[in-house]
Amino acid sequence: MPKPENANELHDVSTADEEFLADVIEGLSRKPQKTISPKYLYDKRGSELFDDITELDEYYPTRTELSIMRQYADEMAVAIGPAALLVEYGSGSSMKTGTLLKALKNVTGYVPVDISGEHLEEAAQRIAADFPALPVYPVCADFTQPFDLPPVEGTVRQRVAYFPGSTIGNFTKEQAADVLKHICALMGPGGGLLIGVDLEKDPEVLKRAYDDSEGVTAEFNLNLLDRMNRELDANFDRDAFEHQARYNSELHRIEMHIVAEKPQKVRLDGTEITFDAGESIHTENSHKFTEESFAELARKAGFKLIKVWKDPCAYFSVMYLEVAE
Ligand code: AVJ
Repeated sequence: MPKPENANELHDVSTADEEFLADVIEGLSRKPQKTISPKYLYDKRGSELFDDITELDEYYPTRTELSIMRQYADEMAVAIGPAALLVEYGSGSSMKTGTLLKALKNVTGYVPVDISGEHLEEAAQRIAADFPALPVYPVCADFTQPFDLPPVEGTVRQRVAYFPGSTIGNFTKEQAADVLKHICALMGPGGGLLIGVDLEKDPEVLKRAYDDSEGVTAEFNLNLLDRMNRELDANFDRDAFEHQARYNSELHRIEMHIVAEKPQKVRLDGTEITFDAGESIHTENSHKFTEESFAELARKAGFKLIKVWKDPCAYFSVMYLEVAE
């Protein structure tokens, strides 16, 4: 079958660069807790460092999720059904996606969605090389905001979102509910959601996963300071800050912070930001769920839980949900 004309064309609806500066200044002016959105951790260097994190022994999520995908891809394909349009939220995980695409019957098209245009194009090309007959429609978008799907050729029986990596855990409960509502609206009646969800476990296992002995996660977190220096004309002194991973048991989440080791002032495109000793920038949340707590969150967004797959230690899960009638 010839490929549709608009396949492989970049559909660019990403947010403007000035938004980074505006978001950072707003986030660093917050009291009592300075905050920067985790989406800014993933520039080119950040994405590379995250890839390195996924190879660490202490970081269990990626390899555990991949093993669940490999073991149960056929069952997932049955749950999804034939002639689906697969929409992937965050396109950085070609191994998991490849496993799923291989198991699916007659996929009508694949729509990788990512905020990083560069990362997106690489991922789209990898998939296109492995699946030459599959129409790929990359969409460059910030999926925390609603976006439209590009026109697609062929029969789509159902739209199915694939949201691996427990990225949903990065959002607050309210944000996660909003993202799930957007996904629900975009997939529409008959649609589905296959999502990777990290599970609650011993906090010590979690702390090691987010503060590894090789310091790769520290480098990943502190790269945000370098990025602001590079892109926003800031003057953070990297050596005066340290990485911290804290488990917040009340909110069921790991929090990453960048902590100022001494009082200091930083200039950011003309704005001065003051830090007390020990004051932190909260850079990321990684929420952990139970089957029940996630099902409840998804239910409020319009989804019904259909099936759950887990590894033998129940460290991680992949869940299939359908848009409720
Ligand atoms: C990409 C959001 C799934 O929360 O485990 C890994 C990001 N941060 N180590 C996670 C991350 C620090 C990761 N996610």
